[in-house]
Amino acid sequence: MSLKGRDVISIRDLSRDEIEEILRAAKRMIPYAEGRKSSHALEDRLVTLAFFEPSTRTRLSFETEVQRLGGRCVTISDPSASSMRKGESLHDTIRMLSSYGDGIILRHPNEGAARLAALASDKPVINAGDGAGQHPTQTLLDLATMQEAFGTLSGLKVVFLGDLKFGRTVHSLAHALSVFGAEIVLSAPSTLGLPAEVREHLDDAGARVTEVDQVHSAVRDADVLYVTRIQKERFADEAEYAKVAGSYRIDNAVLAGAKSRLIVMHPLPRTGEIAPEVDGTPHAAYFRQAFLGVPVRMALLSLILTGRAG
Ligand code: CP
Repeated sequence: MSLKGRDVISIRDLSRDEIEEILRAAKRMIPYAEGRKSSHALEDRLVTLAFFEPSTRTRLSFETEVQRLGGRCVTISDPSASSMRKGESLHDTIRMLSSYGDGIILRHPNEGAARLAALASDKPVINAGDGAGQHPTQTLLDLATMQEAFGTLSGLKVVFLGDLKFGRTVHSLAHALSVFGAEIVLSAPSTLGLPAEVREHLDDAGARVTEVDQVHSAVRDADVLYVTRIQKERFADEAEYAKVAGSYRIDNAVLAGAKSRLIVMHPLPRTGEIAPEVDGTPHAAYFRQAFLGVPVRMALLSLILTGRAG
């Protein structure tokens, strides 16, 4: 099935074949993302970025990729400057925006907001993160990072460390990894474990999932260590956040027993959970991961808006 005109709200909206098609196209897009080749693939296309939560990578990588492909963007990056501040509903905002441009990229603090937006819009909607729900385009670039490092996604052992409760990147990526036959290891502070419904989806998909208390032993035979920040903004109670803040940190001592090919990933921003000393090691993949957001989003948006990529 073609991706042209499709919404991408959850990674579960994409089949394995479609994910593979996007990853192949993303590889072809790397020279365009680096500015070594030019393209007008999105000429005459106008993309609306509606960001109702802070973002650096997702918003600016979308803006970068659209402009590098000859398209144009209009952006809401400060929610307090939109008419939602006056009480306009998300439905009405999206319905109106869908008449302005050719597609909408939405980030919103409420889980389910992107699905609601897709119902209100007659143009494709891409979920750029909905609360503690999903972040499918992050998953695509995470998969691209692993594939670039290992040449495959199947058979990898991926350790997730951190806030697995509120971390939407984990919810999306764990599902995708189960589709590709990776082994999943979960390590989280006791109050920040994977939500039951996400775990049920993984079990239903036949995923191989284990849980560990101490990440040190799991790191020893891992291929990927995927670290996440504790999502402070999702805590209702600051005291609850204080109980878990700073409860884990990856440094060179933790990585001393790891395989030489282990890569450390992080969706970023980091707030102390990976020591800067790791940046200079061959394990550090997080800045390459952030760059790969540009070619991956180039590929996805081209396929959705034009039906082809590269
Ligand atoms: N990984 C990610 O979503 O980063 P931003 O919040 O900066 O977009």
